[in-house]
Amino acid sequence: MASKREQQTILVGVTGCIGAYKACELVRELSRRGFRVKVVMTESATRFVAPLTFRTLSGEPVAVSLWADEPGSKVHHISLAEEASVVVIAPCTANVIAKLAHGRADDMLTTTVLATEAPVIVAPAMNTHMWRKDVTQANVNALRARGYTFVEPAYGALACGDVGEGRLADIAVIADAAQAEATRARDLSGLHVLVTAGPTHEPIDPVRFIGNRSSGKTGFAIAEEAARRGARVSLVTGPVTLPDPFGVEVVRVTTALQMRAAVLARFDSSDVVIASAAVADFRPASFASGKIKKAEAPETLALERNPDILAELGERNDGRAVLVGFAAETSGVRASAREKLLAKKLDLVVANDVSGELGFETDENRVVLVTSYAAEELPVLDKRLIARELLDRVAALVRAKRSV
Ligand SMILES: Cc1cc2nc3c(=O)[nH]c(=O)nc-3n(C[C@H](O)[C@H](O)[C@H](O)COP(=O)(O)O)c2cc1C
Repeated sequence: MASKREQQTILVGVTGCIGAYKACELVRELSRRGFRVKVVMTESATRFVAPLTFRTLSGEPVAVSLWADEPGSKVHHISLAEEASVVVIAPCTANVIAKLAHGRADDMLTTTVLATEAPVIVAPAMNTHMWRKDVTQANVNALRARGYTFVEPAYGALACGDVGEGRLADIAVIADAAQAEATRARDLSGLHVLVTAGPTHEPIDPVRFIGNRSSGKTGFAIAEEAARRGARVSLVTGPVTLPDPFGVEVVRVTTALQMRAAVLARFDSSDVVIASAAVADFRPASFASGKIKKAEAPETLALERNPDILAELGERNDGRAVLVGFAAETSGVRASAREKLLAKKLDLVVANDVSGELGFETDENRVVLVTSYAAEELPVLDKRLIARELLDRVAALVRAKRSV
């Protein structure tokens, strides 16, 4: 009997790179791991490797032209787009990255990618200058913002004679990324995930506020990843400069009280709450409607305590929802995380040490995932990868809750 994985199709897109021959190894590796592999090539790619090679390695027909007369009742690019659990384009040209970033669909590969709902992994390979060009980087960032996963090119000697970034990443790394996506493809579908992000600003007067440091990057990455894995996602965020993640309900608030109201309004329908916002613990006791003149400003500022939103959710939770909190500490990180976990009745706390260089504005962070039974330290990771790791644990916690 075919295993579950054997029923999953991974679509490998091959484009006009000198490294196109390395895709042969990728097809073999994915087949070896038990996936059905189908290859879609651009016309340029066929200048580098013959379709027959991929046909032989995959045991499946290779799609090149939109206009080929394919047997079967369904339009070929649509059937491929629907069949794919994951699409991995390796190696990917600067040209295909640009086309995808602009929603172009003028060949078999780009049309199939535009038509698919499956996660898309892009492994670029090109000359260093092509990769570093700001237009290429802007296209990469635009695709990332839309949920595409990039397996970054490696540094090394390039076919053109240059040495630098631009070599196709290792085939094993690309295969791992494809396998991970296939495994987690839609594991959060049917769930409502509520995420909070960013700081809150508590106004003193129309131009001044008190607040906490937070870029919102982690919360936005979590929301984006949860949506990609099939969840209905609501993201309640304080003031940040990040664009709305694709396919996510975004509620922009300013103060802790506004955040509390937006969260409580969505809590009953939520299966998971991930509270990454750095909510200000205090707000000014009074708000001056006009700017306070420097000479007239009081020496001290009277404060009031803000409600603890997460503790309130912990009290209200009947055990149904998985609750995740964050703890940014400068010392005693694990102990404080465990304390928070128990005090607020949480399922998991993401703890990080913000005394060093990592944390607030950085793209990377080092976190410890603390549950009632374990403390798991992750290496320094991009915040998107932290989101992925965290949601793997959250999916397991949801399954565990549902099985009791
Ligand atoms: C010998 C040769 C090697 C090339 N290698 C690459 C490459 O590694 N990466 C890349 O982005 N473009 C490369 N190009 C340029 C692309 O083939 C060209 O942009 C083409 O239009 C891409 O078509 P496609 O994106 O539809 O596959 C190469 C071109 C030639 C002639």
